[in-house]
Amino acid sequence: MSVAEQSIAGAEARGHGFLASSVGRKIIMALTGIILFGFVTVHMIGNTQAYLGAEPFNHYAEFLKTMVHGAGIWIFRAVLLTAVGLHTWAALSLTLDNRAARRVGYRAQENVASTWASRTMRWSGVILAVFIVYHLMHLTIGNVHPAFDHANPYANFVKGFQVPAAAGFYIVAQFCLGLHMWHGVWSCTQTLGLAHPRYDSLRRSFATGLTILVVGVNISYPIAVLTGFIR
Ligand code: HEM
Repeated sequence: MSVAEQSIAGAEARGHGFLASSVGRKIIMALTGIILFGFVTVHMIGNTQAYLGAEPFNHYAEFLKTMVHGAGIWIFRAVLLTAVGLHTWAALSLTLDNRAARRVGYRAQENVASTWASRTMRWSGVILAVFIVYHLMHLTIGNVHPAFDHANPYANFVKGFQVPAAAGFYIVAQFCLGLHMWHGVWSCTQTLGLAHPRYDSLRRSFATGLTILVVGVNISYPIAVLTGFIR
């Protein structure tokens, strides 16, 4: 079956509801994107505890595990996993539909700028997915960590980033996060109806400011360990 036939069959299988429409799936992407951006922002702020030393950082990690009698972390994980799943599903199905539509006859009208942006979103999204799996194995499960100790998240953080290859991968992944966030904040505010000449410079400043803040602070962690500022 050709890509176009697959997409038409997929659209028929999806029916005519909210999730079948590309606008519906874009709204799903925007809303789940807001949840994920919210998470990375809060996660970045939480990790600043590392600058205060071992005790505050371990105390914070303990709080995350025990909040709401231990149920909080599982509620939070369920929300995060659902958001990642829906976000990835919407992105994949919209990509397949767009690819099929282009083959059917819009090739001449292809917009170079938006194609570049969406291509960037695809590969930065794939690298981020690989990073998240690695990151969980590195600092939560500990099976790819040189000296993981479940009782000491601060030591895991420091010893983890003392390995230059691991620190380097974190830094590269944060640049992908930056690209993804910048374009994502911009396009999700568009999907949610905020694209208006009056708000465009505000949208651009918000996307740029939030991205620089999250990426800058996140990159500072491996650099602080590699330079011995955090030890
Ligand atoms: C340099 C930047 C980052 C640092 C230093 C960092 C640090 C950490 C640490 C120490 C933990 C383990 C907490 C614990 O189990 O005690 C953790 C968990 C986690 N991180 Fe990060 N993180 C960073 C970036 C990110 C990014 C960009 C994402 C997502 C795109 C992310 C997603 C997660 C998730 C999903 C968890 C697991 C939370 C859970 O226990 O369910 N992190 N991170």
